[in-house]
This record gives sequence, C-alpha cells and structure tokens, in this order.
Amino acid sequence: MCGIFAYLGEKTNAGELILQGLTSLEYRGYDSWGVAIKKENSKLHVEKHPGKIGEATFPPFTASSGIGHTRWATHGGVTAANAHPHVSCNDEVVLVHNGIVENFEELKQNLQKAGHHFKSETDSEVIAHLLEEEMKNETDLKEVVLRVFRMLTGMSAIIVFFPGTNQFFAIKNGSPLVYSGTQSEQILASDAVALIPYTNNVFFLPDYELLEMNPHGARLYDETGTEKSLKTVTLEIDKSQVEKGAFAHFMIKEIHEQAAIVKQLTKKTDQIQNLATAIQKSNRFYFVGCGSAYYAALCGEYLFSKIAKIHANSSFGSEFSYHLDFIDNTSTVMAVSQSGETIDIISGLQKAREKGAHIMALVNVLGSTLYRTADSSFLLGAGPEKAVCSTKAFVAQITAIFLLAHTMAHTVDKGTKDLFNAAREITSILEREKSIQELAEKIVKSKNIFVLGRGISYPGALESALKIKEVCYIHAEGFAGGELKHGVIALIEKGTPVIIYNPEDETYEDSLSSAYEVKARGAYVIGISSKPNPVFDAYIEVKNCGEATIIPNVVIAQLLGYYLALAKNLDPDKPRNLAKSVTVK
Ligand code: G6P
Repeated sequence: MCGIFAYLGEKTNAGELILQGLTSLEYRGYDSWGVAIKKENSKLHVEKHPGKIGEATFPPFTASSGIGHTRWATHGGVTAANAHPHVSCNDEVVLVHNGIVENFEELKQNLQKAGHHFKSETDSEVIAHLLEEEMKNETDLKEVVLRVFRMLTGMSAIIVFFPGTNQFFAIKNGSPLVYSGTQSEQILASDAVALIPYTNNVFFLPDYELLEMNPHGARLYDETGTEKSLKTVTLEIDKSQVEKGAFAHFMIKEIHEQAAIVKQLTKKTDQIQNLATAIQKSNRFYFVGCGSAYYAALCGEYLFSKIAKIHANSSFGSEFSYHLDFIDNTSTVMAVSQSGETIDIISGLQKAREKGAHIMALVNVLGSTLYRTADSSFLLGAGPEKAVCSTKAFVAQITAIFLLAHTMAHTVDKGTKDLFNAAREITSILEREKSIQELAEKIVKSKNIFVLGRGISYPGALESALKIKEVCYIHAEGFAGGELKHGVIALIEKGTPVIIYNPEDETYEDSLSSAYEVKARGAYVIGISSKPNPVFDAYIEVKNCGEATIIPNVVIAQLLGYYLALAKNLDPDKPRNLAKSVTVK
C-alpha cells in the first residue's frame, strides 16, 4: 500500500530523486501521490496529484531535502487534497503517514476548536496539526514527535519533516520504516527496495523508537527519548533484482526466476529442520495466510497430511481470530506471507501469541514485521517481488512447506528429487511459453474461466483462478472437481474454458471424469496432465513430479494470466484496485 521516500543529502535535485524513489515503490499499489521539497533559500514546494506518477517530472528546483508519498485511499477519496504530504497551518510541519489514526475524529474536533483549518478529509492530517499545536508548548522537536505519537490510537508509521531546520523524525508501531545513510546522503523509506540503488546497509526502525535524520547524520532514541545506538544490517539484494532488465514486466521476470528459486530452497534444509523440530513438539498446527499465501497454506494442509502424516488447519488471516478457541500454549501457528506486513495476519497472530502459541513466519522480506516478531522465522529468499500479484513468492512458499513436510517424514532426498523435477518442468513450460500465449489469445473473449482440481490440485485450482482474475479481470473460479455436480456444472456453457488439473496421482481417473462431464455440456477443456487424452481440446503436458507437480501446474496459470492481460492491453504488474502489501484492515 502507501509508499514513503524522504531524501536529505548533497545532491540538489531532491524533487527528482524523491519521484524516482516513489516510482520504485509503485508496485505496492497506490492511487495518488505527492512530494514536498525545501527549495534552496526559499519556501516549501508541495505537489500533490490523483492518479499514477506516470511520466511526471518534477520542476527543476534546487533542493537537497524533501519527502514524498504514494497513497492508497482509506479515509477520504482519491483527490489531490487528500494526497500526502500534509502541511500544518503555519507551513512548519510536513507529514506523511501510513496506517490509520483510529481516534482522528475526536482529535480533529479539538484541533478545529483550537482554530486549526483542515485541507483534507484524511485521518492523517490531524497529526500535522497536533505537531504544530504541541510545538507551542515544547521546543525539543523529538519530545514533540514522541508526545504526539503517544496520542494516536491504531497502527501507524509517520515521518515528520521540519523544513525550517531540515530535520526529519520517523516513528512507527506498524508498517516498516527503513533508514540508510552514507557520507553524502541519507534516506528514509517505507520499503528497503527503495534504498537498494543507494546502499545495501540499512536500519529497520523498531516499533516506538524514534529516528532523527538531520544534515549531520542520524540519531536513534528509545520511547523515553534516551539516545541509543543504531546498528545497520546488510541486505543480500543486488540492483538487478529490483529492475526489469530485458523483460517487459516484473510479472514475467518473476515467473522466469522460479525454477532457480525452487532449486535454491533445497539448500536450506538446516533452517527447515529447525521449523520441523518446533512443529513436532506442538499438539496443534495452524497455517495462516491471505490471498495467494492462503492457497499455499491450503496446499500445506494436503502436504502435511499426505507426506508428514501431520494434521494441520489453514485459515485466512482475516478469519483466524474466529478459530482461536483451540489455540493454547501447545499450539504452533505459521504465518505464510510474502511481505510479512499483512495486517489481517498480524492482528490474528497477536491474539494467538497472547494465548501462548509458538509463532512461526514463512516470509520473503527481511526486517518485515512478521519476520521480526515471530518466535521462529524462515526467509524464503525469492528476492524482491515487484509485480502486485504473487508468483515466485507463492512457489517459494509451497516449496518450503513441501520440504518441511518431507523433513518431518525423514524423506528429504525424495522431496529434493521431486523438486528438481518440478524445476525442470517449469523450464520446459517456459520453453513452450508461445503456445500458452496463443491459448490466452484464443480464450481472451470469455466471460468466465473455471479451474478444476482434486486433492492438492484443488488449492492449485484456487490459486490459478486468482492469478487469472487479478491480472486480466476475467471472472475465474477454482473448484474442487468433486463439487462439479453440486452446482458448478450449472455454470458451464458452450465454449466456456475449463482448465482441468489431471496429474498422475490418486485423483487421475476422477478428474478425467470431470473433464468428460464438462465437455458434454459444451466446455472448451484445457487439460494439464502428463498423459494426453482425446477429451482435451487443448493439452499442456507436465511430467509427473509426485506431489511437487502442483508447482509447474500453477506456473501454467501464471503464464495464462499474464498473456490474457497482455491480450487485453492491461498492465499485469499493476492490476486495478489491488495493493501488494495490505497494511490496513
Ligand atoms: C495482496 C496481494 C496478493 C497477496 C496477498 C497477501 O492481496 O495482492 O498477491 O497474496 O496480499 O500478501 P502477503 O504479503 O501476506 O503474502
């Protein structure tokens, strides 16, 4: 969701650098943007616009400091006035905010009574006015920020820019804020990805600590205002990982990275063993995730049961609070999340922690909230995922869970062999990418696309349908093959594309029957299997890789979604209304 980028340094094109920084955060999803810079020897300049940054350029003002924000609207519509930064009445305070100020109405009424004039409908703007108000009583700016932050309820991350003194203050109790400083320039951002073009040494700001950035460097304070030391970590990400390179979009680049990611994960068996040991000590096990990560969790249920003979439940993050009755101090809860910032997961997990559960996190982002706060964390190592829809992180999640199941079953060698076969099949599918593009062009006019699978192919079908609908806006649904006769079949019309996952496992014959049944009602049957069959109107071969066949199978749907989006002239990297990291409920 919202992105933040603040710059303070030697370069004199701060406006342009901030726009570049915001562009690198576009993938998070946003609907308006704004930048405030301190022009040299002059006043503050603020630009705010609804819509995307696109080809926008910044006026060539000489400026060495400023702050920008990309907003995903919650309180107040998508307008220039509601975009951040927000500026206090006296122009001395510039504020950007991620999160929600839950008590903003009460705060706003009091501020209005005190004579403050509000320019937006947002909850965020109250913070700028509160800071201005508090500055009347306190000259120490760090005290002012700490006091105001204590007045806010809800989860927030703020950066305050005082242009008069060229000081920035950052504080949070939710979404991340990351700092980096070199001899010549300092940056504060909402996401480490924005810092990579500058340096790999970064500092993730902990909750309730205050970071001050001024022309002499940075200082860190605890919540009482006492100074403490600031230790950076080195990110193992290189610049090529945050750029598209030769690919047209991040989505296709990330699809192409998957075979290597699967193989790479097989080298992490020691870390996976640690997770296995903790799970085997617990009485109950739950997976929690949202979106694609939830479908990876659902795959986990099947993999744990079939391979490790361990019972697992999986839940959407947003539903998990309603399952808490069975959680106690003998339970383990594993959060599955690309970003490690999804608020529905974080809030559910907080309650499980209060009940004594062991919290695990399977995440892709170092320094993310889930990574830092879990009792045991496993880093997927898929590299930055910049397309809004998840592809490589989903594949990494299934791969890690698959290896975990084999670790608990003491069959890691078999699991590794299946994964290498799955990686080989991904490569083989990508060699046949053109045929999937042709299939997409053939079915692009369809109103509905259905995906059927049984066993582990059922969550695979759900994820496949999600990939299609989120990037090309064609209605797509995944169903358990056995549910066909309980209503689903009523949806089939002449020419409706139905993708059938038909792997060579215990579901083979029954899935084939489903293919015949939909074919008899006029469906255009797309069979994904190791064996061709006359019932398939289109056939995509995927050789059998045991339970790991799910991985190449889903890659086909990723490619289909991508090429359907291209056939409709849509940008697959930035689907409408969606955000990469969903940090509000
Ligand atoms: C958003 C994204 C999805 C993602 C989901 C969960 O909805 O658009 O691609 O699967 O959030 O995100 P997480 O970061 O927790 O995996």
